[in-house]
This record gives sequence, C-alpha cells and structure tokens, in this order.
Amino acid sequence: MSQSQTAVIIPAAGSGERLGMGVPKALVELAGETLIHRAVRNLASIAELIIVAAPIGSEDEIARAIDAPNVQVVSGGPRRSQSVANAIKVLPSNFTYVLVHDAARAFAPTDLAQRILNELVGGAEAVIPALDVVDTIKVVDSESYVINTPDRTSLRAIQTPQGFTREVITRAHAAGKDATDDAALVAELGVRVKVIQGDPLARKITTLDDLAWAKELVGHS
Ligand code: C5P
Repeated sequence: MSQSQTAVIIPAAGSGERLGMGVPKALVELAGETLIHRAVRNLASIAELIIVAAPIGSEDEIARAIDAPNVQVVSGGPRRSQSVANAIKVLPSNFTYVLVHDAARAFAPTDLAQRILNELVGGAEAVIPALDVVDTIKVVDSESYVINTPDRTSLRAIQTPQGFTREVITRAHAAGKDATDDAALVAELGVRVKVIQGDPLARKITTLDDLAWAKELVGHS
C-alpha cells in the first residue's frame, strides 16, 4: 500500500489593500523575508507538495520569493475560495491529506500544522485550530444596531492551517461556493469539523497593527 501524502495549499492572492504597502501582502518583507517565504518555510517539513495561489500577474515574483523545492504556483482568483479551488485543480491524485493555510498567517508554527495533521492521521475528516474569544461579540444589523449577543463560551476565533482529507476538501469546493474559510464549505456537506487548540502565533496579518506585532516578533520594530 502506498504511503499517505500531505499537500499544503496556501492562498496568497490577496491584494493587501488594508496594509497599504503597495505590494501584494504575500510579498511584504519582515526581517528580510517575505511573508510567503516564511509561511512556506514553516510548513515545508510536513508536506510533500505545497501549492501557492498567487495574485494574477505576480505568479513569477511569488515563485522567485519562495525559491524552494516541491512548490507549485498557480494563479489565484478574485475571492479566497476561488484561489483555493484553483490550487485543488492541480492537486495530483496521490495525496491523502490537504492543509489549507493563509499566507497572511506566516508565523503559524510547524507544530500547529503537525497537530492538525496528527488528527487527520487519527481519522478526523476536517480539523481546524481556534482560540477562545476574549471580547463579547454582538451580531448587528446593516444600520449597526445590535440584534443579539451570542454566548461567548460557545464562540471560537478560527485560524489556519485547516486540515481535511483530500476527498472532503475536493467535494467542498466542487460547487464553486464562497466562504471566508474552508471549514464552512466542508460543514455545509454535513461533515463534522473538529476544533483543536490554536496558537497566538497563527495571527492573521491584516492591518498595520498586525504588522507592528510581527515586526516586534522578529525584532525589527
Ligand atoms: O482576505 P483575507 O484576509 O481573508 O485573506 C486570507 C488569505 O487568503 C490571505 O493569505 C490572502 O492572500 C488569501 N486570498 C487569496 N485570494 C483572494 C483573497 C485572499 O488567496 N482573492
């Protein structure tokens, strides 16, 4: 019997508009290393293949920034889900497990990805990392009036990498639907999604505050 193979899909096709650095976010450098290079480096040891979805027109630049073996670059789409779907299209059939990981969470440690993978190997079909929510969260209407206050103890802030069997993630994206994470599409199939403890280092770098946090982390404030 052939050994299980793991692929990592990294959607990196965001514009980085909210950061306002004038380059796609994946190409933003911290301590001389681009976010996409760091994201790939942190996950490389757990995967036999990494597929990166790059902004259209920046594919070559992203490939040069990564410069690592077993990495394939594809064009991203206008939405995150489409970027992930484009990567799934080129996934060879011999892969058993797929981790989907935001380039913007470049500091997510190898250990977090390994814990996700361990759950898949242990039989889970879908596994996602999460942190407890410390703020009270309100659901509001389009005019910013409160509709309700969900019980905080049942809320979690979800991160990546999110892990799936190849069969489940392929089926989840087959209909071409859009969601802000892959687990939402998987849950729509009726598949149970297991939540495990996340890691504060897997913070998504979206705003200048997040970038300041990351600079502090690498010692270049
Ligand atoms: O926009 P958001 O912060 O949710 O992006 C999360 C991840 O998805 C980022 O790594 C970003 O590069 C990626 N993305 C993508 N294609 C898009 C939009 C976002 O690959 N069209």
